[in-house]
Amino acid sequence: MKSTLNKNQQNPMGSVDDWEDDLLNRYPDPTEVKKEKEEFRNYVDSERVETVKEFYRLNHTYQTYDFVCQKESEFLQFNKREMSIWEAVEFLNTLVDDSDPDIDLDQTQHLLQTSEAIRADGHPDWFVLTGFLHDLGKVLCLFGEPQWAVVGDTFPVGCAYSDKIVYPEFFKANPDYTDPRYNSKFGVYTENCGLDKVKMSWGHDEYLYQIMKNYLPEPALYMIRYHSFYAQHREDAYRFLMDDKDIEMFEWVKKFNPYDLYTKAPVRPDVNALMPYYKALVAKYLPEKLKF
Ligand SMILES: [Fe+2]
Ligand SMILES: [Fe+2]
Repeated sequence: MKSTLNKNQQNPMGSVDDWEDDLLNRYPDPTEVKKEKEEFRNYVDSERVETVKEFYRLNHTYQTYDFVCQKESEFLQFNKREMSIWEAVEFLNTLVDDSDPDIDLDQTQHLLQTSEAIRADGHPDWFVLTGFLHDLGKVLCLFGEPQWAVVGDTFPVGCAYSDKIVYPEFFKANPDYTDPRYNSKFGVYTENCGLDKVKMSWGHDEYLYQIMKNYLPEPALYMIRYHSFYAQHREDAYRFLMDDKDIEMFEWVKKFNPYDLYTKAPVRPDVNALMPYYKALVAKYLPEKLKF
C-alpha cells in the first residue's frame, strides 16, 4: 500500500514538529488563557492545519495491527546503528525540515527546554533525564521511516479505535476497521489486561521505550512509552484495557505531558553551559553505547 505513495505524499508536514505544535490547538496551555489575546502565538495556520490533517489521514489509514507487528520485527532487532546518547542527539539534529530556522528550535533545544523545566521544578534526576531523552526515538525518521510511522498521537491497535482519537473518521480507510478480529471493543485483548499486553500504533514512543527499558525507573519508562497516547492521558478513553499498575503509573505520564507541550519558549537554552550536568546525568543511568 505505502509503496504507491511518493516521498512527499508520505511526508505531508514541513517538519515532524508541526504535529507537536498542532497539539497546542487541541490542548492549549491552561496558564496562558489569562494572557491578553495578542500575547498568544498564533498556532492556527491554515496551511499547516491541512498538512497535519493529511498526516493524520495517512497515520490512521496505515497503522494496522499487522503494520505494527512488521515494524516491531524490523526495528526491535536493534541492528541499525550503535550510538551513544550524544551521537543520537547529534544525529537527530540533522533532521532536515522546511521550518524557519530563525524561529524554530532544533531537537536538542526542544529536549533541553523540556528537561530544564522539569529540573527547575525540583523533580528527581531520572525525571529530568526522561525529559531530555523522550523524543530521541525520532531518529526513526533518519532511518527513512515516513512521518506517520514516527510521530503523531498513538493508540491501541488490535481493538476498535476510540472516537476520542483525533480525526477518528480517517480510521474508516484502515483495513482493521472492518476486520472482525480487530474491530470489537476488546479485539484481541481482554478487559483490564494491562497496557503491556496491548500493541500501540508504531512510532518514536514505543521504539525509545524498548531501547531504554533496562535502564530507567518504571515511571520514566511509562512517560517515554505513552507520552503521545493522548486518547488515554487526556481523554481517558482506554481505561478498560489498563490494570491497576497502569492507572497508578499514568499519573506520571500526566505529570510529564505539560513539560512536553508547554515549554517551547522562544528563549534558547545555553547548550554549552548545560552540557556538564547532562553528561553526568546520562553517564549515571545509561551505558556508553546503545543499540538502535
Ligand atoms: Fe514525543
Ligand atoms: Fe516532545
